[in-house]
Amino acid sequence: MADSTEGSRRRLSVLARQLTGHVRSVPSREAADREGAMDATPFGLAPCSGLDNNSGGMLSGQVALITGAGKGIGEAAAKLMAAHGAAVVVADMDAGAAQHVAREIRVSGGRAVAVAGDVTAPDFPERVVGEAVANFGGLHILVNNAGYTWDGTIHKMSPEQWAAMLEVHCTAPFRLIQAAAPLMRDAGKAEIERSGEARQRCIINISSTSGTHGNAGQANYATAKAGVVGLTKAVAKEWGPFNVRCNAIAFGLIDTRLTRAKEGGESIVVGGKTVHLGIPAASSHWEVLKPLVALRRVGSAEEAAGAVLALASPLLSYVTGQVLEVNGGSYM
Ligand SMILES: NC(=O)c1ccc[n+]([C@@H]2O[C@H](COP(=O)([O-])OP(=O)(O)OC[C@H]3O[C@@H](n4cnc5c(N)ncnc54)[C@H](O)[C@@H]3O)[C@@H](O)[C@H]2O)c1
Repeated sequence: MADSTEGSRRRLSVLARQLTGHVRSVPSREAADREGAMDATPFGLAPCSGLDNNSGGMLSGQVALITGAGKGIGEAAAKLMAAHGAAVVVADMDAGAAQHVAREIRVSGGRAVAVAGDVTAPDFPERVVGEAVANFGGLHILVNNAGYTWDGTIHKMSPEQWAAMLEVHCTAPFRLIQAAAPLMRDAGKAEIERSGEARQRCIINISSTSGTHGNAGQANYATAKAGVVGLTKAVAKEWGPFNVRCNAIAFGLIDTRLTRAKEGGESIVVGGKTVHLGIPAASSHWEVLKPLVALRRVGSAEEAAGAVLALASPLLSYVTGQVLEVNGGSYM
């Protein structure tokens, strides 16, 4: 495993060097059809609701990889970033959901490819970064969004429950960032050595107000999401000199299956075990929280995606190492 990871890393390094300074914005159909990609990217695209994905848009010419993009916040972010000109790698363990989102983006005139896989799988980081290169010729924006909750009070929490949260929210993003290093850190460094400046690249790690403020019943999730903040600041300090920004977003209550009623809600299968998602008696939980939220409502996935787009955009080019709280004005 170590050898093959090292081998993939070397191959990505070589690719990064080749790509530096002349990132392709339109891939070949052959590249899109390459083995491993679940969807081929169609070309000769229809106009996307008035947006020209190849020349206009705040993210024009950029390639974004978003994990957990098959549903919820990740899905909304994938669609919004594509509408703003990015070519998007829609990664999710739910293969059908990822394919559906990628297809919807393409139908609206955007560029997207679906890649199925569990972010905690040892071979996933190199594979998904390889798909970004194979399909779109590079990687400029990485959004570590995949995640879920597996709640329980501390005195009842199993070691498996604890470890699963650290694995998906901390270890997987760390490994993805490592896999992206040749295309982000090394590419920026090479550009600076050659011309004195590097193009914009950025990483956005999804945290939670549970991580920044703690939450009863979520010791595992809160610890992991706090870890995301430390990881974010370390990357910002190490890679800032190469013009790679790294920020975190700590979401409050966003309306997705993670915050809807647990009773009769959805589940996720992790290591062969079914984990039920949602909040027990979500509506009464919300009634308690409502007075603490200035805007008096939960956020939508689209509003959450807006924050992701804002951080990725050139408008925030001098913002790095920050945790943006997107919570409707709670914890003030
Ligand atoms: N919804 C909220 O209120 C809220 C608040 C704070 C933080 N967050 C965070 O936002 C992120 C997105 O959550 P959401 O609310 O959109 O949830 P969601 O369940 O709607 O979407 C999450 C997506 O991630 C995928 N996923 C989960 N584990 C994965 C894995 N191991 N490998 C690959 N894909 C995986 C799921 O299949 C799903 O498509 C998560 O990191 C979550 O912790 C959400």
